[in-house]
Amino acid sequence: MYCNSTISSPTDRWVKADLRNEVEVAKLLKIYQPDVIFHLAALPSPRINEENPTLAEDTNVGITTNLVALSSKFAHIFFMSTDKVLNGEDLAPTEATVLEPVSLYGHLKARCESIISQHHRRYHILRFSTVHSFGDNRSNSFIDKSLIKLRQGEKVHAFDNISRCYLRIDQLLDVLASLMDDKQYGVYHLGSPLKTYYERIRDLCEEMGIAWRGNLLATDGDVVPQSQNLNTDKIKRLLNCVFT
Ligand SMILES: NC(=O)c1ccc[n+]([C@@H]2O[C@H](COP(=O)([O-])OP(=O)(O)OC[C@H]3O[C@@H](n4cnc5c(N)ncnc54)[C@H](OP(=O)(O)O)[C@@H]3O)[C@@H](O)[C@H]2O)c1
Repeated sequence: MYCNSTISSPTDRWVKADLRNEVEVAKLLKIYQPDVIFHLAALPSPRINEENPTLAEDTNVGITTNLVALSSKFAHIFFMSTDKVLNGEDLAPTEATVLEPVSLYGHLKARCESIISQHHRRYHILRFSTVHSFGDNRSNSFIDKSLIKLRQGEKVHAFDNISRCYLRIDQLLDVLASLMDDKQYGVYHLGSPLKTYYERIRDLCEEMGIAWRGNLLATDGDVVPQSQNLNTDKIKRLLNCVFT
């Protein structure tokens, strides 16, 4: 399912739809009757959310409301949430930590979580921070763009005062595949040990053999919260997985 993007090789299996539209969603759910729904549709940029509050509400909460209200109560829903439902004050927040988002995007995602958990029994809500690949030019991630630039010998300024728990796209896909048949529904935190953006990019460069010295430059950013850790013990216990 997609909305505005140009899918490079559209096949019969791609369906173009605006999921804010209740009638469209009802029609699609009637046709496909999914047992499993991977709900990724969102307006994910915190800045664009602040600048377009109505679009942000309609896209994040509106789509979630439609999917939840119109899908079978027995459908298994996977929802991609965010660490931005938290505020950074708890130094190792678990899934039970009280949500206190500090941005509109965080508030809207927290409302989506609540809508799903109140109306469906079979759900996995996955909270994570920045997802990245390894220098994929189709990715919007700052980390991917930085790896591409560094590989080309260009300079990159990366925040060394902002820390997050990062998620490799292949590790996210492994988790989703493993949870397909899992019945321990609920909220799960995903992500690597806490690192600054500078440290993350540096470590990936080391891993991938990309020269970074002299081109990767540490800088300070004005982002709230400065540090957002995630306690990932729950998913590690369940799947015996490791996030790197
Ligand atoms: N990337 C991250 O680092 C990260 C971190 C935490 C959580 N997440 C969550 O993960 C999910 C995917 O994020 P992403 O980074 O892949 O974002 P993205 O590339 O912007 O993907 C969002 C998707 O939502 C679709 N969409 C938006 N409005 C729609 C509408 N009205 N009807 C139907 N589809 C609509 C978009 O379709 P079109 O492109 O076709 O318009 C796009 O495929 C989001 O829920 C995001 O909040 C992402």
